[in-house]
Amino acid sequence: MTDRIPLSLRDVKKNRWKKAQRHEAEFWQAPNAMPHQIERVATRYHPLLRRFENEARNGVQILEVGSGPTCATQILPTTHKVFLDPLMRVYRPLCPPETGGRQVCAMGEGLPFAEGRFDLVFSFNVLDHVQSPERFVRELIRVTRPGGKVIVGVYTHPRIFAVVRNFIERILPRFGEVAHPYFISRQALVRLLESEGLRTEEVVQVYAPSHRPAFHRQDWVAITTRP
Ligand SMILES: C[S@@+](CC[C@H](N)C(=O)[O-])C[C@H]1O[C@@H](n2cnc3c(N)ncnc32)[C@H](O)[C@@H]1O
Repeated sequence: MTDRIPLSLRDVKKNRWKKAQRHEAEFWQAPNAMPHQIERVATRYHPLLRRFENEARNGVQILEVGSGPTCATQILPTTHKVFLDPLMRVYRPLCPPETGGRQVCAMGEGLPFAEGRFDLVFSFNVLDHVQSPERFVRELIRVTRPGGKVIVGVYTHPRIFAVVRNFIERILPRFGEVAHPYFISRQALVRLLESEGLRTEEVVQVYAPSHRPAFHRQDWVAITTRP
């Protein structure tokens, strides 16, 4: 499927990803990071997650990939939840005490779960941080049962802005943005998910800046089904 992936979404080198992850670890451990981030998650993702409250009742298996310490899906009623993040060892002491479920330290590109294990798989604000968007999405799909949902949110940018920023990341990396190996447009998000076989049900905007310079990022979530 690689030939259908735009050049800008091809894997970055492991060292580039690790550099972004070091930045991420520092960011989350900074004093006062958590209250602000918990508020961001509650404002953007909780209203959307409430739509899944009926679907996510007892026995339903949920996976949140790249959950950070905020673990957005903790508000869903089922007790069968797995929160996964490569930095989970760093995050464990930061997670709110009421976070239930299992916390797993692993990469999204190599999920330690059997095929079709989950009914609902979520990932918010992660796709532009990973090492390989293509392998990441394939893994989300693999662990979702047929008919289950894959819900992926990411900061998106206008297409031309994303192209320029990806170009800078590849050609002039020292002018890149350390936290984000990728810049993704809404169109590229949907194209990536569909090219791996998902069916898009809806793409929902959960955040747009009020001041709106044309190049600024928005936050969109694609709700898709695994056929
Ligand atoms: C900006 S944080 C978002 C955390 C949380 N989802 C939120 O919205 O608060 C990005 C997260 O993606 C995780 N991440 C980076 N690369 C990843 C990968 N390859 N697989 C899974 N998670 C990854 C990082 O460790 C980090 O916790």
